[in-house]
Amino acid sequence: MRSHYCGLIDESLIGQRVTLCGWADVSRNLGGVCFIDLRDHEGIVQVVAEPENPAFIAASEVGYEDCLRITGSVRARHSVNDRLRSGKVEVLAERIEVLNKSDKLPFYSHETPGEDVRLKYRYLDLRNPVMQRTLRKRTALVTALRRYLDTRGFQDIETPILTKATPEGARDYLVPSRVHAGEFFALPQSPQLFKQLLMMAGFDRYYQIARCFRDEDLRADRQPEFTQLDIEFAFVSEHDVQDFVEAMIRQIFKDVQGVELAPAFPRLSYAEAMRRYGSDKPDLRIAMELRDIASVVQGCEFKVFAEWANHPQGRVAALSVPGGASLSRKQIDDYATYAGKYGAKGLAWMKVETRAKGRDGISSPIAKFLDDATLAAVLDAAQANDGDIVLFGAGPYKTVCDFMGALRLKLGRDLGLIENAWKPLWVTDFPMFEWDDEEKRYFALHHPFTAPSIDDVADLRANAHDAVSRGYDMVLNGNEIGGGSIRIHRSQMQSAVFDLLGIGAEEAQAKFGFLLEALRYGAPPHGGIAFGIDRIAALMAGTDSIRDVIAFPKTASAQCLLTSAPSPVADAQLRELHIRTEAE
Ligand code: AMO
Ligand code: AMP
Repeated sequence: MRSHYCGLIDESLIGQRVTLCGWADVSRNLGGVCFIDLRDHEGIVQVVAEPENPAFIAASEVGYEDCLRITGSVRARHSVNDRLRSGKVEVLAERIEVLNKSDKLPFYSHETPGEDVRLKYRYLDLRNPVMQRTLRKRTALVTALRRYLDTRGFQDIETPILTKATPEGARDYLVPSRVHAGEFFALPQSPQLFKQLLMMAGFDRYYQIARCFRDEDLRADRQPEFTQLDIEFAFVSEHDVQDFVEAMIRQIFKDVQGVELAPAFPRLSYAEAMRRYGSDKPDLRIAMELRDIASVVQGCEFKVFAEWANHPQGRVAALSVPGGASLSRKQIDDYATYAGKYGAKGLAWMKVETRAKGRDGISSPIAKFLDDATLAAVLDAAQANDGDIVLFGAGPYKTVCDFMGALRLKLGRDLGLIENAWKPLWVTDFPMFEWDDEEKRYFALHHPFTAPSIDDVADLRANAHDAVSRGYDMVLNGNEIGGGSIRIHRSQMQSAVFDLLGIGAEEAQAKFGFLLEALRYGAPPHGGIAFGIDRIAALMAGTDSIRDVIAFPKTASAQCLLTSAPSPVADAQLRELHIRTEAE
């Protein structure tokens, strides 16, 4: 139907006749001459129809987003548009064919409608060149990853979508079975168990671009269905996996983004990440760090500090914020309210105007509770400088990490303290189990197939509380972009871990009997990782929301506004599936 793409018309084609297909981005009639900006996936070219031109009447009737086929000749343009590749030329129309007229649009390309409207009319939203560019980048990312792995001995193997629950910490999406009344498939939260079985089957190196399904609370970086680059290796240690995928990520950023990442990603233990940044996915573009001040406030008169400084599970932390001394009372109160959302019971602060003046150089509601020596020691421990505000958090260790970590990010953003850089790192040595006080049981911090660093079952049982896992996360600019581990490859250890997680022998057999059995036939040591493709694509595209890099995403309440899914189904279909809804 066409000879060229609109966006690729340039001076080399001057004098040639071309046929183009696309949409009318803008059409205008200026002083009796009609201009149409014709757009396709490559870009825009200006089409002109002059009154003496046979196409003039058709041109003057063109409306927004009409689908057109235009034949004409390329000529140099009077007023050059440097922003377009085709900006030095235009196409003098000879024939304009309306392939399909557009109705009045729900929104125009120069408007930014609310996200609900964009999602309902996603096919129109996706016509936007920004969205086109973003999805192209995603394609480039996936192509580069595939190329990398295909040339290194990996086998791309598909695993089932209709399967049994694979716990990754979220709820399952269930699919009722028609043939087996009252029974359900679960959609995979990840291909975890199948990729482990592939290692037991002797495939050695596997990858898959895998769709995963998780019914969990959604945020900007979470969708109910999302895409992983899932990888597994047999006969590896954590360093083998980390070194391999680190090199892969470095290469992919070079190929797709033109960015050189650090030659060796720093490694932080979970404990150190929490201590220094109050987060297990620290954004290293922000230089500020949390500082512990418990040892200098243990004996002070400010009760909240003294209490938590002496509490075995407590933490008293300080955060010196450069330039923060100029914050208003209202702003400080707003930060205290913000910290409150993360569990803070209060937010003590000190503005440091001039440290050299001692107490007189400080303004703070809590300074009066601290003697001169303690005040100086606190400022030392906080590494406070003139012009800083020092924020203080006291309370249970994890709570203080959470709210001080959240403040660090928010202040970093609000005060422009985020370096323009790419800062990847590994977070390692996660606790194997997390104790839940409400449910009075352990949870797995990664998934229950992650190997503990203690290799002996009796030893693990005796030291479960302090056990560290062989899991690792890759973090980039404050986003967890990948997570993986060395797996348990012996049946007894897997049974013991299930047991510690409160999964009894009978339940373990019912849910994971196939795994426990497979582990008994010479399962090799193995390990791997999965990367969040959507998150990496979002980082590369410079957007905060993974919805922007997914062609047809769901809303924050897990709906597809375009197709109106989920939606009710006919009674007959439910009966066939042996399902009765509550209303009946
Ligand atoms: P994990 O649960 O850490 O590990 O997931 C791996 C990566 O997938 C991305 N991710 C998500 N992206 C978008 N929306 C979501 N709801 C979502 N949930 C996770 C993150 C995350 O780092 N089977 C293990 C991997 C392994 O052990 O090899 C797993 O799924 O970027
Ligand atoms: P109060 O004596 O309760 O009025 O608190 C004095 C200051 O300490 C106020 O600025 C409070 O916000 C702050 N504060 C109270 N509890 C905490 C806490 N757990 N951590 C940090 N600051 C706190």
